Amino acid sequence: MKVASHQLRCTECAAVIAKDDASSNFRCPLCNGLYEVVYPWSAIKPGDKLGSTNAAANLPNPSALRWLWQERRTSTMAVDQSGVWRFRDLLPIVDDLEKVVTLREGNTPLYDLPRCAKAAGIDWLLAKHQGMNPTGSFKDTGMTAALSVAAQRGFEWVACASTGNTSAAMAAYAARAGLRSIVFIPEGKIAWGKLSQSMDYGALTIQLKTDFDGCVNILNDLVQRFPIYLLNSVNPYRLEGQKTPAFEMVEQLDWQVPEHIIVPGGNLANSSALGKGFCEMHQLGLIPRRPKISIIQAEGANPLYRWFIDSNRVMKPVTADTRATAIRIGNPASWRKAAYIIDELGGWCEQVSEQEIALAKAEIGAEGVGCEPASAVTLAGLKKLVALGKITPEERVVLILTGHTLKDSQYTIDYHRDELFTEAERAQFTPADQAHHAALRKPPIVLEANPDVVLRTLESHMNESRSNHPQPA
Ligand code: F0G
Repeated sequence: MKVASHQLRCTECAAVIAKDDASSNFRCPLCNGLYEVVYPWSAIKPGDKLGSTNAAANLPNPSALRWLWQERRTSTMAVDQSGVWRFRDLLPIVDDLEKVVTLREGNTPLYDLPRCAKAAGIDWLLAKHQGMNPTGSFKDTGMTAALSVAAQRGFEWVACASTGNTSAAMAAYAARAGLRSIVFIPEGKIAWGKLSQSMDYGALTIQLKTDFDGCVNILNDLVQRFPIYLLNSVNPYRLEGQKTPAFEMVEQLDWQVPEHIIVPGGNLANSSALGKGFCEMHQLGLIPRRPKISIIQAEGANPLYRWFIDSNRVMKPVTADTRATAIRIGNPASWRKAAYIIDELGGWCEQVSEQEIALAKAEIGAEGVGCEPASAVTLAGLKKLVALGKITPEERVVLILTGHTLKDSQYTIDYHRDELFTEAERAQFTPADQAHHAALRKPPIVLEANPDVVLRTLESHMNESRSNHPQPA
């Protein structure tokens, strides 16, 4: 394959720099903006004839690309088996494919969610389950990309601040590459499953007595003093990997484009990464149009939502608090990129309550799919967007489920044992919500090890379910 070169462009002042010239905090020295990776073909406009620029001639035409990507699925090469590097023609960021660090990430399923669709009031709903990645979250698609760059540039140490998933992914990929990794996480505010992963994969795990935003500040200081490669999502190579689920999704849909994609919003990088993926496919003639992308935040961690509804469109950081700890972020680094993608693709931003998140998570679980709380904001947000008339029943919607249900099993156990909410919170629930929760809750039942006792309990349970659930025709 002919490897195209790439550059970095500031998303605020548009200054372009060579790929090796970024400062250690990946901020533009002129305006403090964030970078995006640009390629010789990035200037192509949708509808331009490919080959109309010399650089574009390096890329195969759309049907050849589709064929090539499909063909690689049957290969035994690690880079071909990766659901990220299979699309490497659109992310030529490493010079030596032999040195790519991969755990065969990507290749995640698209599930239909018929009961969730009904609950939301639409006809067609799919979930792209990014929790089915090697470390259980969407972060793997970005980490394979950025960590491969770090390894090729000879870094010995990599680091990130994280609410848990980035750190799990970074620790795993660093271990694969034989690099040392340092994780900064907010003490007591991340799910145990995620904390255990970074220890399991051998990272130096530092719990700071602050929140995620405080961890980011400390790390930004450190990377300017020591040769540590920063792997937070301000690193533009992360987003190159995270754009590939957009390619994979439309490939799985036989190159049909859904009307609407719904993404959870935390540090606000993933929404723009997926948006970049769709925009590039459109530019290159792989898809005829782009979907809307809407971002959903938790009410207690909602700076983008506040920006979205503010007539002056001012971004004000908040002190974040939500049980969906993955998105417990008050000062999101990539908010401008997310804001751009909402406006460019015509989506919305919504916020959802803790109660709505819990209900949506249980509904996704009850479809046999499951996800972590931060991912469930997508279904909760979809319901709101449908109720507001922003999404119509016939529109085809895809939820991005970002993390696996086992990431935060304590949340699930607390929910089903009815120990998640305080008395004061429960007092606010409507009778309809209470009934929904009661129908979804499946607490474990402790019984004497006696067959008669077990049988009696089963009978009463079956009678109860018969009266609560209509029997299938
Ligand atoms: N969903 C999950 C499960 C996450 O872990 C995150 C972010 C998001 C959604 C939000 O994505 O930040 O791109 O808007 N987790 C980061 C972490 C912050 O450190 O693991 P975003």
